[in-house]
This record gives sequence, structure tokens and C-alpha cells, in this order.
Amino acid sequence: MKAASALALLPVLAVQAVRIIQGNDDGWAELYVRSFNDALNAAGHNVVLSGPAENKSGSSSRDEEPKDRTEACEYSSCPAKSGPFGANSTRPDLNWVNSYPVTAIKYGINTFGPKLWSGKAPELAVTGPNVGTNLWVQVPFSGTVGAACYAAHTAKIPAIAFSGASSGNLAWNTSPVPTRSLVYAELATILVNHIVDSGKPYLPDDVFLNVNFPKVEGKCTKASDFKWVLTRINPGVLSAPDVEWCGDDRLPTETEVILGGGCHISVSIGDAKDKTTVNDDRQATVLAKLKDILVCV
Ligand SMILES: *[C@@H]1O[C@H](CO)[C@@H](O)[C@H](O)[C@H]1NC(C)=O
Ligand SMILES: *[C@@H]1O[C@H](CO)[C@@H](O)[C@H](O)[C@H]1NC(C)=O
Repeated sequence: MKAASALALLPVLAVQAVRIIQGNDDGWAELYVRSFNDALNAAGHNVVLSGPAENKSGSSSRDEEPKDRTEACEYSSCPAKSGPFGANSTRPDLNWVNSYPVTAIKYGINTFGPKLWSGKAPELAVTGPNVGTNLWVQVPFSGTVGAACYAAHTAKIPAIAFSGASSGNLAWNTSPVPTRSLVYAELATILVNHIVDSGKPYLPDDVFLNVNFPKVEGKCTKASDFKWVLTRINPGVLSAPDVEWCGDDRLPTETEVILGGGCHISVSIGDAKDKTTVNDDRQATVLAKLKDILVCV
């Protein structure tokens, strides 16, 4: 299964390979997170996945010690009564935790990652792609965002949360892998490589990126059809001016960019402390890293 989906992907090769911790909220066996895992591995990165044992969508920043499982994990991806956490028996880099998205990525950062990386910490955290968007009012409730903010704020690891508007939950071993899963994986890997190639620190302190992909449909069906747009999470009516960009000092909102069509991907500079928009000189730092791939709308 892994070989088949890896072949279907166009590998996006990284200039530099880094240690990446990966989480999500739809569960460790959800197809979107596995396609992205395949693409990051194909790019040469050292990736460890640690996601919840089941769908924990909407659990925000909840964090609880994992309990013993009674039932099988989602899509029967682990047997019943298999303890509070576990890994794929032949892929120790694929882990589940019987708790919330934040708890799962915390175990990945503190335990599963260092075990496979000779005690070293992850250099970057990624979450998702979430099945469905995480825009503005959805952001505070999202476990995908919650896990990224835990990484960036509490664990001090630069973090990117990815979400895709094309929905439909599918198991990790679905065959053939639908185009949307492969396109989101390829796009997310392109952004990861761009951030890595921009050099350390990958993102300013306490910053996470909230990235939303529009639907994969119509004119937007291959990675090269999509364009990146710098956005804000919430409207900035009363906020200080944003960084000067595209002839304006107010960035568009992620909601208007995603609803506006045109194969535009929104990239918001989020504050990992409170999940709002960063509105200070850290915007310019991130803009400098992303400028080469951004378009104006
Ligand atoms: C996961 O949970 C969310 C929120 O409860 C729900 O909308 C979604 O349909 C669920 N997915 C599956 C596969 O059950
Ligand atoms: C575990 O890994 C094997 C080998 O890559 C794969 O065939 C299997 O589908 C995986 N199962 C899960 C639940 O990850």
C-alpha cells in the first residue's frame, strides 16, 4: 500500500532533510495525514507521526493522560485492548495515542521522536492536513490547530497547521488514493521545504502558520494549479496595520481568500499563545521567508 501511494506521488525533494514531528486530529490512520507522511518521507525528511487513536476533531487544546483502549482504533487500525498508546508493528515511526491531538503530539515530541532520533528533538512540527477547513471562527476549536500551537508555544518547535476544504474521511489503506489526498500532501511538502530552505529559525517565537487549501476540483486539480496568499485569521478592523504587502497595510482574511476561488491557498501568521493573528514585526520576518512563492489577490 505504501509503495503504491508513494509511486503515485511526485516526490518533492528537500534541499535539506530535517526531523519532523507530525500530528493531526482526525486520527493517526486517516488518509490525509498518511499521504502527507509518505510525501515528507519521499522528500527525504525524518518524520515521526503521533496522532490520536481515533477521530478527535474539534477538541481544541485538550490534553489528558491517555487511557487504556477497550475498542479497536479507528478503521480497525489497532486491535482492541492494546493499551494507552502504540505503534505500527513494522513502522515504529507511525504512532497512536489514546487521547487528544495535543496529548498525542506531546508524546511524539517528548517520547516517540527522540526514541527514533537518538535522543534528539524535532526541528519542525506539522499537523494535518485536516479533513475540512480551519478558518477564523473554526480555529479556536480545531485540534489540528491546537496541536500546532502546543508545539510552537509550549514545546518551542516551529509549527504549521494544514487543512483541506475537500472533505470525506478515508482509511489509511484506501486504494487507489484519491487525487485530493495526493495534491494536499504535495502542496504541504512544498511549503515545508520552502520554510526549511529559508533557514533557522524556521519561524519566529510563538508563531504558527495556519494553512488552508481550497477544494481540489474544477480548475484546481494539480499542485501546480494552486497559488499561495498571505492572509490573517480574523478581520483586522481595530488592529494595528499589517505588514506592507501587495500595496496595502491590511492582509486579506483567510476566509475571503478561500471562499474567493481561484485555487488560492491561505497562509495566516498565527499567534501560538492565543490562536489569533500575529500583528507585529514577526509578520515581516515570515513574509521575507515566503515572498518568493506568494501572489497578490
Ligand atoms: C470526525 O469528527 C467530526 C466532528 O465530530 C465529524 O464531523 C466527522 O464526520 C468525523 N469523521 C468520521 C470519519 O467519523
Ligand atoms: C503498518 O505498516 C505496514 C508496513 O508499512 C502497512 O502495510 C500497514 O498498512 C500499516 N498499518 C497501519 C495501521 O498503519
